[in-house]
Amino acid sequence: MPTALITGASRGLGRATARAFAARGWTLIVDARREADLAEAARGLADVVAIPGDVTDTEHRAALGAAVDRLGRLDVLVNNASSLGPSPLPPMREYRLSELRTVYETNVFAPLCLIQRLAEPLAAAAGAIVNVSSDAAVEAYPGWGGYGSAKAALDQLTAVLAVEEPGLRVYAFDPGDMRTDMHQQAFPGEDISDRPEPQVVVPALLRLLDERPPSGRYRASDLTSVGESGAEDPALTEWPAVTR
Ligand SMILES: NC(=O)c1ccc[n+]([C@@H]2O[C@H](COP(=O)([O-])OP(=O)(O)OC[C@H]3O[C@@H](n4cnc5c(N)ncnc54)[C@H](OP(=O)(O)O)[C@@H]3O)[C@@H](O)[C@H]2O)c1
Repeated sequence: MPTALITGASRGLGRATARAFAARGWTLIVDARREADLAEAARGLADVVAIPGDVTDTEHRAALGAAVDRLGRLDVLVNNASSLGPSPLPPMREYRLSELRTVYETNVFAPLCLIQRLAEPLAAAAGAIVNVSSDAAVEAYPGWGGYGSAKAALDQLTAVLAVEEPGLRVYAFDPGDMRTDMHQQAFPGEDISDRPEPQVVVPALLRLLDERPPSGRYRASDLTSVGESGAEDPALTEWPAVTR
């Protein structure tokens, strides 16, 4: 059975993705920092190795790598775990560098370290890497400079990896707004009930992995868009180079 490693799978998009993969019979390796939440999320998934820990921690990443070695296969790596940074989001001139470092450690260095550790099994499986991005990587929203610049760095390393690793598919995947803890943290005290649940985004991610278009940056909204007639947008079936 195909095997996927999904970081940050105890809630939000990571959890919804893990459920969808499990429903397809995939073997999963999942993590999150809070052990009880991770165990609760893993309950009911048939074939799952749940390893609590922080993606910024070297030993934890080694444990994830060792789990892949034991299973002997990795088809998909989803770098989903992410740090928003402080809430409320500070303007750049007030951003504490210690906090910015944590954002970069989580959103840039940890995904790259996992890619470096797991490139070999991924290549052996002609696998795919999905680095979860954000529109904040490409738009200049006040307050979003820390998180957004880290996601921009993640986008760029994704783009370079894509040309360096023709045997892999390397995607930056922008899910769009979702009703999750992170989104609530970004908009403290605001009603975010109009945002879609994260499971609404999962079909777009599955489409990316099923159809394996060229490596690049893809938005969930482009992968699931339907025309006025309700038919799928025909332009998407030819997989144009989707960028921003
Ligand atoms: N929500 C949105 O509107 C939105 C929009 C654009 C992009 N995104 C991106 O979508 C992805 C998922 O976000 P989400 O909204 O689903 O977030 P979420 O609901 O807050 O869930 C984040 C998950 O990651 C885990 N996590 C966080 N930091 C971690 C760390 N250092 N090590 C290991 N696990 C960690 C969390 O568990 P613990 O806290 O227990 O570790 C949790 O399982 C992120 O990459 C985010 O940047 C979200």
